[in-house]
Amino acid sequence: MKPYVFITRKLPDEVVKPLLQNYEVSMWEQEDIPVPKDLLLSEAKKADALLTMLSDSIDEKVLTAGKKLKVVANLAVGFDNIDLKVASREGVAVCNTPDVLTDTTADLTFGLLMATARRLMEAAEFVKDGKWKSWSPLLLAGHDIHHKTIGIVGMGKIGETVAKRATGFEMNILYHNRTRKPAVEQELGAVYVSLDELVEKTDFIVCLTPLTSETKNMFTREMFKKMKQSAIFINAGRGPVVDEQALFDALVAGEIAGAGLDVFEKEPIGADHPLLQLPNVVALPHIGSSSVETRMEMMKLCLSNIQAGIEGNEPKTLVNKDWKPLVKA
Ligand code: DGY
Repeated sequence: MKPYVFITRKLPDEVVKPLLQNYEVSMWEQEDIPVPKDLLLSEAKKADALLTMLSDSIDEKVLTAGKKLKVVANLAVGFDNIDLKVASREGVAVCNTPDVLTDTTADLTFGLLMATARRLMEAAEFVKDGKWKSWSPLLLAGHDIHHKTIGIVGMGKIGETVAKRATGFEMNILYHNRTRKPAVEQELGAVYVSLDELVEKTDFIVCLTPLTSETKNMFTREMFKKMKQSAIFINAGRGPVVDEQALFDALVAGEIAGAGLDVFEKEPIGADHPLLQLPNVVALPHIGSSSVETRMEMMKLCLSNIQAGIEGNEPKTLVNKDWKPLVKA
């Protein structure tokens, strides 16, 4: 019997086809709707491998549903949706998709910064709505980006690549991270500071930190109060890193000037979300790594990880480094 792979969202046929040679494969056929939990559980019961999305909660129930599960390949660099402890205990290799999405996610992050600072979405709507009647001196005037200070919170590979983008705009670069990055400091002139100093001195605070128990709610009401009134807050990491009510209140009170958000506390958000009612918020639907080229690379990486995991080999981008394959059916 061929090993069984379940894919939790519809992927292009050209990606899935090569898998069919060696595996029995089935897929949740919806592009926009997540797989229902009961179906995910019944599939996990039978599966040797799961190809999952960041919107799927891969908890103890899923990881222990069956006896055969060997690998979970998540189509994202983030893996906060997966219970790693249980996965390791159960001998399930958990894999993510780093590196292949670094440039694409950095491009989107910097684009979001630019769109927010220069009010690009508002301006485009203004023209489309037929409101452009004349040129005027301060029409939709935004904030400069060049020569300002960017503060990157979470200096992983995506953070470093955003910093590289910032050098093209001759920005001063501050960063805060769990560990210092001497090579980045040397190469890009980035300066390591405490989180407090970063939020106080920065014009563009860019949050790229992964979601962990330490980073959950790290952007509190007090943090927003410490920011400059002209500061713009960008989040392309994970929504729950931010106290969203505190961000909303800071924007309404004019404590900061704007926010560009690719991620939210609970995704997806609806049109009635309070942050969407504010003109100085640019909101995107979690599309950091979403270019066709990159998403195809991410899918390919997931497939190669699935193959390795099923064969009992260490997948290329294994997350739970304490993983040891267990003898499973
Ligand atoms: C991921 O892959 O985890 C990021 O959110 C990029 O969109």
